[in-house]
Amino acid sequence: MSEASLEPSRKPPLIAIDGPAAAGKGTLAQSLAGKLDLPYLDTGLLYRAIGKLMRDAGQDLDDPTAATSVAEKLAPDDLRRTDLRGREAGELASRVAIHPGVRAALLAFQRDFAHGSRGAVLDGRDIGTVICPDADVKLYVTASAEVRARRRTDELLAKGRAVEYEAILAEVKARDARDSGRAEAPLRPADDAIVIDTSALGPAEVLATALSIVENWREGRRVSAGGGERR
Ligand code: DC
Repeated sequence: MSEASLEPSRKPPLIAIDGPAAAGKGTLAQSLAGKLDLPYLDTGLLYRAIGKLMRDAGQDLDDPTAATSVAEKLAPDDLRRTDLRGREAGELASRVAIHPGVRAALLAFQRDFAHGSRGAVLDGRDIGTVICPDADVKLYVTASAEVRARRRTDELLAKGRAVEYEAILAEVKARDARDSGRAEAPLRPADDAIVIDTSALGPAEVLATALSIVENWREGRRVSAGGGERR
């Protein structure tokens, strides 16, 4: 294990968390932000809100000009909608996210949030690679498509929805393909991200792993920790 000794850091960290849909990055980001008392931005909500606004207005989600125009006018209230968390919004989000104009329109807001004086946790697909290449800690949270589909199916069944594992698996794979195949900001770990595979880990273990990685950063050690793989 290579260990570069740096000065211990007292500044609040900027933490970038990326990864595919349903890998557990939202759960991790939220609990990490709570534990470390850092502002948290779920960047998926931005894309979800654009998708929903376009759908409500009967607009064509594949039209880059229309999508960019909605992204440029996005307001904080749009993120407070209560219908952004579901599967439909996720699908719409993944479609509008392919437009470079949409991504460009959201860049400044995300960077401003990230660079406040209190540190921040942002989760998404391109935080470590595009939005915050300067992040102090970059995590890439992933799990096999089968494990992610199983978790999502169980979550939905627990809510009383009639869903089938095979259909959810197909959805997860299709979303991965769209998010990874984007010319602009494709889903991938930053070169200096630490990969956490959550396939065999529960939320508490994932949080403990991430906290130990942040602790290493604070102490000035750039090492992998507790199952994190140094890239
Ligand atoms: O993280 P999520 O499931 O809420 O994201 C929904 C979609 O939004 C995702 O499939 C791709 C897009 N997205 C993105 O392109 N870049 C981000 N930083 C966050 C989300």
